[in-house]
Formats: sequence, C-alpha cells, structure tokens
Amino acid sequence: MHSVAPPPRAPDRIIVFDTTLRDGEQAPGFSMSVAAKLTMATALRDLGVDVIEAGFAAASPGDAEAVRRVAGEVEGPVFCSLSRANEADIRTAYGALQSTPKRRLHIFLSTSPIHRAAKLKMSRGEVLDAAVRAVSFARTLFDDVEFSAEDAIRTEREFLCDVMEAVAEAGATTLNIPDTVGYSTPAEIGALFTEVRGRIMPRFPDAVLSAHCHDDLGMAVANTLSAVASGARQVEVAVNGIGERAGNCALEEVVMALRTRRDLYGVDTGVDTTKLLATSRLLSALTRSPVARNKAIVGGNAFAHEAGIHQHGMIADARTYEIMRPEDVGFAGTHLVLGKHSGRAAIAQRADALGYPLNGNELAQVFAGFKRRADEIGEIDDRELIAIIVGSTSTAGGARAAIS
Ligand code: KIV
Ligand code: ZN
Repeated sequence: MHSVAPPPRAPDRIIVFDTTLRDGEQAPGFSMSVAAKLTMATALRDLGVDVIEAGFAAASPGDAEAVRRVAGEVEGPVFCSLSRANEADIRTAYGALQSTPKRRLHIFLSTSPIHRAAKLKMSRGEVLDAAVRAVSFARTLFDDVEFSAEDAIRTEREFLCDVMEAVAEAGATTLNIPDTVGYSTPAEIGALFTEVRGRIMPRFPDAVLSAHCHDDLGMAVANTLSAVASGARQVEVAVNGIGERAGNCALEEVVMALRTRRDLYGVDTGVDTTKLLATSRLLSALTRSPVARNKAIVGGNAFAHEAGIHQHGMIADARTYEIMRPEDVGFAGTHLVLGKHSGRAAIAQRADALGYPLNGNELAQVFAGFKRRADEIGEIDDRELIAIIVGSTSTAGGARAAIS
C-alpha cells in the first residue's frame, strides 16, 4: 500500500506530534498495555493531535504489536514509529505501519561529541553517512520521514547544520532538533533554531523544523515556545509532560500557551482544548499516576481559589485572577475553595447559593464560626458550611429549616 505524503501546511499552523505512547510510555512507571495504548490513542485522535508516535517497533515484539494495532485500528492522525538508523529497524517499523496509509518513520541518530564517542564510537563523517544512508533507505518505503539528531543541543552547530542539510537532501521531510537531556535555555534554543532555519529553509522550504524538549531543568515548555518563535512548526509533546527522566514538553501547557498568547506567537494548533482535562485524567487513570494538584492547566488547583483577596476579585470579575476560562480546558468552572484563607465575600456568595442569604450581624457570626472550624479541619464543604450557618444563626428559618 502506498503511503501518503505529508499534507501542505499553513505557515501559522503548528503540527502537534504526540509522543505519550513512545517517549512517555518508555519512562519508568508509565508503561501501558496494548489495550491501554489503544484507549489513549483514540483519546489523542479525538483531542486533535496531528501525529501519534505509537511506539518503537524494533524495541520488542510487544512494541511492534502495539504500533501495528494502534495504527491499524485508530483512524485519523498520522501514525509513526521510532527507528534507529539501520535497515533492520526501518523494515520492522514498516511492517508495523504497513496497513495505514498515513504513516511516518522517525529515525534518530546521535550527533553530539559525547554520544559519538561514548555510545556510537563513530566519527562525525560516519554519523553523517549513516544518517544519510538510513534516510535514503527509509524513503524507499515511506513518503513521510522524520530525522532526529539525538542530543542536538550539545552538538557542534556547524556539524548539526551539515547533518540536517544532508538528511533533507536525502529526503527527510521533518527535521527534529531534540534537547535530549533538557540542557538548553529559551535564548539558546531560539538562536539555534534561527541558525538552522537560515541554513536549511532557503534550499528546503517545505522541510518542517521540529522541537523535542526534555524537562530536566524545568524548561521544556519554555524552550519549545522559544523554538516556535524561531521557526519550529512541529512540537513534540506528551500528555501531562510524561517522558524520559523529568519528562517531555507537556502537551496541554504548550497548546494553552500558544492559544493564550496568540498575540505573541501568532500560530494555531488543531487541538480541541476542551478535551485537555479529560485526556489528562484518562492517562492518569491508565498509568495510575496522579497529576500534582498545582500542575498547570490540568491540576486540581489550576482554577481553584481559596485566598480571600483572590476570591473577592474572582467574584467581581474572573479575569482578575484567571488568564484562561476553565471551560476552555474542560473544567466545569472556577472552584472557590472555602478554607481558613477565605474572606466574607466568598462565604456570603456560597451561603446565598445554598439558600442562606446572610447580611450584617448574621454574616459576622457565621464568618467567625467558619474561621474557627476552618482552623480545625481545613477545607469547608457545603455540608460543613450549612452546619456552621445553622449553628451560628439564632433565627434559622425558611430554607434553613429544611436542612438538617
Ligand atoms: O529525546 C530524544 O532525543 C528522543 C529522540 C528519539 C527524538 O526522544
Ligand atoms: Zn525524547
């Protein structure tokens, strides 16, 4: 079956390449069964990612089977397998992806001095030749071939540009510049993308530059955004930021950063952001890995407010303390948590919503009782609040009588 060449792309459209099922899944604690991968791939398709890296077919028969089933049973995005730069791996990946016309091969080969010496025991010339050979062979089976220069960030700039130019010449359609060890900074990676773009794009205007950033220094999202600002048109990401060591660039964070700061970046993705929370929770359930409460975009506190001053502002106008609408990422709404830091405005609003309009002295009494109880137990839920109101107000009537 013939494969399909990558479609033409608008210059302001970012390709979202999801590696949750490969780089994410290969990290300790995140391995998934074939069934779990199928469930996750369906959710990623519904989320609207463009490319799903379903695994590394040559890594094990199980991985090959997962790539084959995911690519064969889930329709929509381009499906991809990772591959080392050798014919055997490329053929195994082809075998796993054969049944899907929208297939991509993702070849990686290290280019940095430390990887060349310690891991590959290859000279620069040997690395360059092996990369070109692998891409040329891959193009006999795939129209869509991505090449990754592993540890690109720690590679000599001139040599990295030479490799990128040579693989583009050999037919690579996407050129990925990974920060494999999460070492770069936004300024550095921005300058690198500018330089590679200057070298490559005049000769290969259809080539797509791609960023793949790890989070070892906590800068994966910032570095990915800087790469986009400097010309990257594909971002490699994983849901909840899972991936090797500290993880990959978090899909939900980079997508919402591009959307929220469209004024700065001027680009769009095809992601349906209202599905971000459900997708994050699905992965969390499949891998039994809870998401931190304070995680950006999808954490439990992302749209929750307890401090009195913040709650007061939120009641007046949500834009005082929220830069995104909770509904836009899949939350039902803002959550005003009642606790010892809350102020009168939030307590009065919640009481009113529960059928207890409070004013003046009544509110003062409830507020004092509320603070005492919050000091004892922390968060005050609706039942607790009602109990406080009933206990603090001497003239409980109307709706109050109905609550026991
Ligand atoms: O981090 C990395 O360099 C990778 C490559 C295989 C793209 O995951
Ligand atoms: Zn990686």
